[in-house]
Amino acid sequence: MRNGNTISLGLGPGLAALSLLAACSRPAAPGGAEGAASGAAPTATSAPTDADRKAILATLPAAYQGADLDNGQSKIALCKACHTLNKGGEAAVGPNLWGVFGRKAGSAPGFAYSDGMKALGGAWDADRINTWISKPSAMVPGTKMTYAGMESPKDRIDVVAYLKVITTAPAK
Ligand code: HEC
Repeated sequence: MRNGNTISLGLGPGLAALSLLAACSRPAAPGGAEGAASGAAPTATSAPTDADRKAILATLPAAYQGADLDNGQSKIALCKACHTLNKGGEAAVGPNLWGVFGRKAGSAPGFAYSDGMKALGGAWDADRINTWISKPSAMVPGTKMTYAGMESPKDRIDVVAYLKVITTAPAK
């Protein structure tokens, strides 16, 4: 069972609400007419089904398709100290990252980016985020993302793949 919301770093009401949602949408209904199969996933935005995950992963470059999402989920806790990942999540120390793939750098509404980030241009994709988190200050001198960087290439692959899965709306 997925438990993306249990790595709670005190991110506040957004996650609490999501956990509630998840709780509400999983009624223990032993005699229920439908949805008895545990695979009948709730529609909370942060809980893609395994099929959703596979479909979303398939849109990434080959290097990411075999990613270890469990490791990504574990390592992304570092990022969640500063970022919310859910749809409509609040900006925190860093901008909300829902929909960040394909989004122009420095363009999340309601976040005061550094001048360097505002000037960066171009959209985020997997490889670019991978390079970014390897050493943010190398891509954007003077960046407000005061994170030294993730050294392990494998961890970066896993984090980027998990980030894609968790910040992308499943295709209907
Ligand atoms: C110490 C807080 C902090 C941590 C930890 C952190 N970030 Fe950030 N992040 C920021 C800030 C602040 C910005 C805005 C940077 C700027 O304006 O220069 C940012 C920007 C970003 C952006 C660009 C977003 C946009 O809208 O253009 C991405 C992508 C990103 N971070 C991903 C990550 C990932 C993935 C991790 C974990 C590996 C991570 N961040 C860890 C604070 C953080």
